[in-house]
Amino acid sequence: MGKVMAGFTMSLDGFIAGPGGDVQQLFKWYSMGDTDFPLPGTDLVFKVSRASAERMRQAWASFGAFMTGRGDFDASNAWGGQVLLGVPTFIVTHHPPQEWLRADSPFTFVTEGVEAALERATAAAGDKNVAVGGTTIVQQLLNAGLLDEISIELVPLLLGKGIRLFDHLTTGPTELETIKVIEAPGVTHLTYRVVK
Ligand SMILES: NC(=O)c1ccc[n+]([C@@H]2O[C@H](COP(=O)([O-])OP(=O)(O)OC[C@H]3O[C@@H](n4cnc5c(N)ncnc54)[C@H](OP(=O)(O)O)[C@@H]3O)[C@@H](O)[C@H]2O)c1
Repeated sequence: MGKVMAGFTMSLDGFIAGPGGDVQQLFKWYSMGDTDFPLPGTDLVFKVSRASAERMRQAWASFGAFMTGRGDFDASNAWGGQVLLGVPTFIVTHHPPQEWLRADSPFTFVTEGVEAALERATAAAGDKNVAVGGTTIVQQLLNAGLLDEISIELVPLLLGKGIRLFDHLTTGPTELETIKVIEAPGVTHLTYRVVK
């Protein structure tokens, strides 16, 4: 079984989106470099530094499934109908959107909560890792002791307000072990293991 890994771009003051979900300023580093990074599963191409491209290539090749929340799904407009990492994708929601409930839908909607979604994502991923998005999904997995690693792409920006990743934690202090730090132009890639 692989690992369960969350990954977000974050401002220095802890926001992963501005008010209303705006990520434009946070995501500047995706277009600041000279190395192409084609986003698996999509026709998008990021322009990042060589160091960032190598880090993303390694991380993204390790994923066998993706699970996230309805907020992420809606904010991205269902990623234009493309499966973000090119892997089985599970969306946790109370109300699956009717327009995506069809035999050829690239998305699986899970209404039984995060643990059920993780079970399905883990089964789909096989030996590979499960990538996790959606702030409320990450928080629920942390609270349940089910998250193994957290990757933060830290950008030199103070957003001041918006959506925080680490709200609503009920576990008390959670120790993290630093696994890797990569300095790259416009972004510092941080990877932590959740100590259990
Ligand atoms: N900085 C970055 O790297 C990055 C990357 C991607 C996205 N983003 C931003 O992150 C934000 C994503 O939204 P979010 O994090 O606020 O929300 P989210 O966690 O993706 O989704 C929250 C929603 O998921 C559903 N949900 C959560 N737990 C559930 C459960 N146990 N059972 C059933 N349904 C459940 C509920 O939707 P329903 O009740 O409506 O079904 C809930 O309102 C967006 O603003 C996006 O722009 C940032």
